[in-house]
Amino acid sequence: MKYEKEINRRKTFAIISHPDAGKTTLTEKFLLFGGAIQTAGAVKSNKIKKHATSDFMEIERQRGISVATSVMTFEYNDTLINLLDTPGHKDFAEDTYRTLTAVDSVVLVVDSVNGVEDQTRRLMEVCRMRDTPVIVFINKMDRDGKNRFDLLEEIENELHISLHPMTWPINSGKDFKGVYNLYDKTLQLFTANTKAEDDEDKVVIEDLSTSILDEKIGDKDAAQLREDVELVEGVYGDLKVQDYLDGKIAPVFFGSAINNFGVKEMLDTFIQIAPVPRSRETTKRTVDVGEEKFSGFIFKIHANLDPKHRDRIAFLRVCTGRFERNKYYHHVRLDKDIRFSNPYSFLARSKDVIEDAYPGDVVGLFDTGNFKIGDTLTEGEDYYFTGIPSFSPEIFKELVNKDPMKTKQLEKGISQLTDEGVAQLFTQFGGNKKIIGCVGELQFEVIQYRLLQEYGAACEFRPLPFYKACWLTSNDTKKLEEFLRFKQANSAEDKDGNPVYLAQSEWFLNTEIQNNPEITFHFTSEIHK
Ligand code: G4P
Repeated sequence: MKYEKEINRRKTFAIISHPDAGKTTLTEKFLLFGGAIQTAGAVKSNKIKKHATSDFMEIERQRGISVATSVMTFEYNDTLINLLDTPGHKDFAEDTYRTLTAVDSVVLVVDSVNGVEDQTRRLMEVCRMRDTPVIVFINKMDRDGKNRFDLLEEIENELHISLHPMTWPINSGKDFKGVYNLYDKTLQLFTANTKAEDDEDKVVIEDLSTSILDEKIGDKDAAQLREDVELVEGVYGDLKVQDYLDGKIAPVFFGSAINNFGVKEMLDTFIQIAPVPRSRETTKRTVDVGEEKFSGFIFKIHANLDPKHRDRIAFLRVCTGRFERNKYYHHVRLDKDIRFSNPYSFLARSKDVIEDAYPGDVVGLFDTGNFKIGDTLTEGEDYYFTGIPSFSPEIFKELVNKDPMKTKQLEKGISQLTDEGVAQLFTQFGGNKKIIGCVGELQFEVIQYRLLQEYGAACEFRPLPFYKACWLTSNDTKKLEEFLRFKQANSAEDKDGNPVYLAQSEWFLNTEIQNNPEITFHFTSEIHK
């Protein structure tokens, strides 16, 4: 393999969590270990504060911060780590789902007090669809959390994944004494605000029956730990790394991100076991990661903050070969060759123009409207990377043009915004009603604001009584056409012309599914199949 060395030293991943579980804090600790930042507090939380949903400045601030911290690249123990950020706010969940298509593994943060939360469930669904390897970090052990056995059971049951504890906690909250590392048989005693290279409080405990354990944590907790470890080892046995790589088993670490406790253990294991870039499926064939020719795909598009400049940044994940500045690449969908004179790499501190990039890397490309999510670049071959899903929106509204003189601008604007993946656009059959579907209310505000600011088009939204969009396929074309005609008020086509059923409620949806066995109702659509 020509680029074997480069490929094997890269790990591209994302940290995912329900808002407030500690993603930003953990990200910061990783960057401290990687030397990418020097002080705590340097990474700004990119979540929009819960109360500021109507504050446009806040939306703008969010967009600014999230572009700056979209990809953080740092080195740790000779491993080059690309950490892809995901938006914290649930209204931008779709952005997160797409980012997950560009990573090779994830770290899932779970709050030990709150356990599995809504967003955790959704994110894990996406990971399971792709068999993404997952490491779980159970955070905030310094707070009185749930019983650890109950918590593990809750995670396994709710997220449908088998867990494998790598460390085991001694109590939680004010009685939290530390963790026992089941693999290197060491006891790490808890101290708040552990420094990056601090191993002072580490005690090697080869044999748990040693009295050192009682000395260190007291008779009662020592007895409990012996009992717990016997149980845990009996139930879980040894970790099979291949099961982790296949997405079947998730190693679990306990810690406290804010105190930098338990983070290093996880990072050290991460660089040992997390996957390097792997081969990927395309519409034509499996593309082997070691292929010499360059290929990559766009998983995210970010608009420019400055309304005077319409250009955007398209995020390209390199899949094979070497991406080079100023070289012509084939844009498969547009069937044209383009080159990039200012490709960006994202270092934690600044954006830098780069000369080249390798599989696993993310490159920022200036885009004047050439790109859509899911676009593929190659050295000439025609294929698309598959597995980039579009999920059903949860809120649907009719787009109403408030200024007929600006119809063209409105259409252009909405088309570009939906290319960016801000929202999904459906056109109702029979009429020409434009329906915008989003995951959260906040996106409607963003759209309205941006249409006005960037395209000079005024619009308003009228609520529609739909709760889900299902993409329809059938071997019986006539049946499908009939259904769409008969259910005209609930039928639409998506931006690519695929037929969609807009369901008013679960009851309606289930009834239609039952009544129409010849038609398949899909809850996600793949951009390229
Ligand atoms: P997020 O990105 O997942 O939304 O979470 P973030 O890191 O912003 O953390 C959410 C809150 O939880 C923050 O407090 C953070 O300080 C706190 N936190 C993170 N890790 C731990 C931990 O191990 N133990 C405890 N007790 N708290 C933790 P905040 O008050 O919301 O924000 P801030 O004012 O501290 O920034």
